[in-house]
Amino acid sequence: MLFQVPNVLAADELNQVRSHLEQAKFIDGKLTAGWYAKPVKRNQQVQASNSAGQTVKSLIIEALRRNTLFQTAVRPRRIHSLLLSRYDIGMEYGRHTDNALMGGDAFWRSDVSFTLFLSDPSEYEGGELVIESADNEQPYKLEAGSALAYPSTSLHRVNPVTKGIRLVAAGWVQSLVRDASDREMLFDLETVRRSTFAQHGKTPEFDLLSKSIANLLRKWVEP
Ligand code: NI
Repeated sequence: MLFQVPNVLAADELNQVRSHLEQAKFIDGKLTAGWYAKPVKRNQQVQASNSAGQTVKSLIIEALRRNTLFQTAVRPRRIHSLLLSRYDIGMEYGRHTDNALMGGDAFWRSDVSFTLFLSDPSEYEGGELVIESADNEQPYKLEAGSALAYPSTSLHRVNPVTKGIRLVAAGWVQSLVRDASDREMLFDLETVRRSTFAQHGKTPEFDLLSKSIANLLRKWVEP
């Protein structure tokens, strides 16, 4: 399931992130690309050990933890990887698929990828995130502070930046629910559950729906 998560970061959090990134040192992005993606990855990213980068990452992970849409649609077991990337003029990330396994020796699986946009669309030209599907492709350039979550299984690319600077945080999640269609069914049911509660309160129907969701979680979750 591909979906947008608006306003992951509040305005003051976005300002904090931006000012930290202004002080952070960026290095060549090829260092964290898979061997087959290195030739097409032309960007920069904050070094993993950088303290400003660590502060930013903690802030983003906390913002995603409290985001109900992200939590119910992705069901994260762990956000195991997060990169803070910068694309200057001429930089791009050519067509690739994300590594299935990440995290060094820990071998976390990437089920869902996300890009949190940190630059306003008016600050740069080009730099669209393009997601491919079987018969078309779709470009995305979201508001600063909003995120696009998409299946890690997809082929995608970042178009060359032709003006300005594109800052993003890119992350990867291992979900508690491995199968994407199971995850989508749980999301739909949870959406109905919340909606029926808001409209009618704790009815017998609400209780049955809650029971089914809980039992599907017992069936599908890989702890
Ligand atoms: Ni990617």
